[in-house]
Amino acid sequence: MCGIIGYTGNKSVVDILIDGLRQLEYRGYDSSGIAVKCDNDVKVYKAEGKLENLCNVLSNHKGEFETATCGIGHIRWATHGAPTVLNAHPHTCTCGHLAIVHNGIIENYKELREKLSSEGCTFRSQTDTEVVAHLVARKYAQTKNLTEAVRMAAKELEGAYALCVMHNDYKNTIVATKRNAPLLVGIGEGEFFAASDVPAIIKHTNRAMYLNDNEIVTLTPDKMTLINSDAMELAPKIEVLPWEPVALSKMGYKHFMLKEIHEQPDVIRNILVGKLHAPDEEIVLNEVKLTKETLRHLHRIQIIACGTSLHAAMVGKYLIENFCGIPVDVEASSEYIYRRTVTDKHTLVIGVSQSGETADTLTAIKQSKEKGSHILIITNRPDSAMARLADSLISVNAGIEVSVAATKSYIAQLMAFYLLALYMAEVKECVDLGMLTTLKTEMMLLPQKVERILANTDDIQKCARRYAATKDFIYIARGINYPTALEGALKLKEISYINATGYPAGELKHGPIAMLDETMPVLSILMNGCVYEKLLSNSEEAKARNARMIALTNSKDEKLNDLFDSIIRVPDVIELFSPVIAMVPLQLLAYYIAEFLGKDVDQPRNLAKSVTVE
Ligand code: AGP
Repeated sequence: MCGIIGYTGNKSVVDILIDGLRQLEYRGYDSSGIAVKCDNDVKVYKAEGKLENLCNVLSNHKGEFETATCGIGHIRWATHGAPTVLNAHPHTCTCGHLAIVHNGIIENYKELREKLSSEGCTFRSQTDTEVVAHLVARKYAQTKNLTEAVRMAAKELEGAYALCVMHNDYKNTIVATKRNAPLLVGIGEGEFFAASDVPAIIKHTNRAMYLNDNEIVTLTPDKMTLINSDAMELAPKIEVLPWEPVALSKMGYKHFMLKEIHEQPDVIRNILVGKLHAPDEEIVLNEVKLTKETLRHLHRIQIIACGTSLHAAMVGKYLIENFCGIPVDVEASSEYIYRRTVTDKHTLVIGVSQSGETADTLTAIKQSKEKGSHILIITNRPDSAMARLADSLISVNAGIEVSVAATKSYIAQLMAFYLLALYMAEVKECVDLGMLTTLKTEMMLLPQKVERILANTDDIQKCARRYAATKDFIYIARGINYPTALEGALKLKEISYINATGYPAGELKHGPIAMLDETMPVLSILMNGCVYEKLLSNSEEAKARNARMIALTNSKDEKLNDLFDSIIRVPDVIELFSPVIAMVPLQLLAYYIAEFLGKDVDQPRNLAKSVTVE
């Protein structure tokens, strides 16, 4: 949610800020802005809408900032106040000498705003951020020291923030601080960067320092000074980032989402490397730091996640309970954190997050860590805040996912759960060896099966055209594919804005069936296995209410042709692995419908890829 960048050095700052913001667009894209030090002035440029609009604004002012080498930038996902130019960052103090960019939410902004207004500050926006600009300016008036002003102001802020601040009195200085929001400093030759995330700086440097909560860093082209909230100087802990410069290229695909869907066979191969060598060999999961003895006697697991990751967690529950017989609770992080949750040091808590920085999941994980639970994190970002809290860390290695709708990271999370569940089953010796070999053989075949789906998408495209005009869509499934129905519906909602709902098929007759008529498409995820016949009956019930029936199936059953108006066929697969095989066509169906409707597939309205506010 919101991306921030700062730069001080010897290069043209505007290019660096704009390029950095482009890499951070996944965090929000409803407005953007920069502030740059031009001779004796801090100049601010902002625009509503996509980053391109800001570029257009800047092209009309080129002469003003050609020599500028210090500045801050922001790309917004609105929380307080509509996405307008006035609410876009950077925000300035009353006299305009101080500019600030912020990611997070200032929870006590109302009290601060009242107090600062009564002291004469002029507010121009509806944002929570603007109070920080005025507050720091007040402190600066007292101290005449920008670092000190930021340090003192931070003590009065409640909530989450990553902040970059600059001031007219300083030629080339940025002061940055954070609490419960990500911020790192990139260290170049005669230059420093501050950014919400690695992609914004990796082109320029792979040396970086992650700021800890409440630390304050002051950057000039030749110096970085780090202090804590008591103004004590700290030694910066510099790391070499394990990142290659990120090539954010669509590789010839029309959208990142389509490219990422097509990367999935390799994503599956990648996560298996080093963990599953051969079907008759044991799974190697050195990432799990619990002793085998503890694993054998584990009596409870909780999995916490949001959105797509929550759906992967639901499949994980099914797998662990099925293979290991350990009870697993799955809960949306946002529900987990505001009630008395029962967890302790005998509970394994698994956090699942593509980004590793989702605020609700992060808070939930912190809470359970405080209660002594072992924390296992499954994430695509081993450098994230969540990964840093992990006692055990499974990095799913899906590669950077640009499209806001998660696809390949979901498949990678599923794979992590297959590996974990089978690994635990091996440790507990609770699944027959022959069965384990069969399952591992199937797991190794998954990339080829996904490739077969991707090689022929004609039926999916036909289906997309046929149903694109619908206003509502129902997905039904049972058992291990109930989460597939939820995830398929979420994908469609996110990028096409069609009202899609996933139901456990058995629930249809307990209410939702009332909605069925000849206008309603019902997509049945009909995979061979223990619930096949039951789901078939549920599909018959829907058909009897004249619903437009679609099957996603690996069955060769001829009678499906009578029951369903459209059929999407997928390769045969053992039922336990069918969530992988069934999900890929549903991602494609959502993609083709959204594309057909001309929607902004990679950056759907109102969404952001990293949800860093609760
Ligand atoms: C997925 O398509 C969504 N964009 C969203 O539901 C996402 O999965 C959710 O916000 C959780 O994010 P995380 O995996 O980074 O924690």
